[in-house]
Amino acid sequence: MVKVDLNGALPFLGADGIDYAAAEAAHRTLFTRSGLGHEFTGWLELPQRMTDTELPAILAAAKRIRSQGEALLVVGIGGSYLGARAAIELLKGASHNQTSDGVQVYFMGTTLSPDALYELQQELGDRDFTVNVISKSGGTLEPALGFRAAKAMLERKYGPAGAAERIYVTTDANRGILHDAAVAAGYPMFTVPDDVGGRFSVLSAVGLLPMAAAGIDIETVLACAKAELEALSVCAPENPALLYAAARQKLRTLGKATEILACYEPSFRFMAEWWKQLYGESEGKDGIGIFPASVEYNADLHSMGQFIQDGPRNLMETVVSFDEPLHPAAVPFAEGDPDGLNYLAGRELFDIARIARDAVRDAHVSGGVPNIGVSVPKRDEAGFAALVTFFEVACGISAYISGVNPFDQPGVEAYKKNMFRMLKM
Ligand code: PA5
Repeated sequence: MVKVDLNGALPFLGADGIDYAAAEAAHRTLFTRSGLGHEFTGWLELPQRMTDTELPAILAAAKRIRSQGEALLVVGIGGSYLGARAAIELLKGASHNQTSDGVQVYFMGTTLSPDALYELQQELGDRDFTVNVISKSGGTLEPALGFRAAKAMLERKYGPAGAAERIYVTTDANRGILHDAAVAAGYPMFTVPDDVGGRFSVLSAVGLLPMAAAGIDIETVLACAKAELEALSVCAPENPALLYAAARQKLRTLGKATEILACYEPSFRFMAEWWKQLYGESEGKDGIGIFPASVEYNADLHSMGQFIQDGPRNLMETVVSFDEPLHPAAVPFAEGDPDGLNYLAGRELFDIARIARDAVRDAHVSGGVPNIGVSVPKRDEAGFAALVTFFEVACGISAYISGVNPFDQPGVEAYKKNMFRMLKM
């Protein structure tokens, strides 16, 4: 289970500390499925449901995808994209996610940039590839146009019949233009569950098929996520999701309206993007919310560090850490000590990173930025499952404490209406 450390937030929480009673009430509302948007809480049982239903078909499709080529183009946006990318970058590395047990995964459908499309085609070269298009509604413009482009690329290379064998569709079980096209063409189909919103769907086929194709052990992810959700369902003061939700909501009421999610692992970058969507879409409504931002340390200490240390004091910081590295490395000895760093020779890089993290925390806390620590043992399948379930449950609790519906996103529709009106002019 995730550990939450509130020591760096305590000086800011006031004499009363966090409001456990409100957090416990919100926790009960979430787990009894009695709150606003309760019809979209299917994600609470997703690990068990997936194991009982689609898991064998997903594993078989992933095996087939791996046998069909070296690359997989995943086409999707928002909740139909970020979870898979977050998992693959976290567990397989940020830029070189192809391993001996999985395909290289590329993402498209998040942009209308023709240059990005050209660059993707150049990067793909003449490698054999497959396509997994993911859209719950089936009608989102960016991935729909992305899928057109991907299908045309497949048809140029393999002809219409060959292309059809390389397309995998993840969409609504019963309706939608993508659903109907997939049925007509006979593409293998996977489901975005009706009772799970896009940003909570990473543990459905939406995330699991690309993850499995990339060589991630999704059976372990699901087993760990199931155990984590069981533990998080216990309404107790030591429940980490309850602590995190209560602390950030208390800080919000004290004027900390922006939360920065930080991590010292570059592979965490898209976990932070996933988290931003999860919290931004779930909480930012009815004129309230905590603005979710993210930084990658140490790099951003040298760009955003000044602002965080010394800018407007409306910030709180949540730092995600892993207790141990997957591949330890020590600082090498340099003959003649040309850079004066031999005093660090032989020290583990990870220990130096830990000291840097503690130094940053103390500096930011003394600069007026409350710090919440979130940690898991390792950057592996179990760690991923623990982080995803922790942040999802905490998000539901936090939104209920603030009084909003965590599971709708009415504001997302405004730009879409404008865009389609203008495109049809
Ligand atoms: O979380 C959400 O609901 C959104 O981010 C959607 O996932 C996103 O807009 C994509 O929608 P769709 O899957 O219908 O293409």
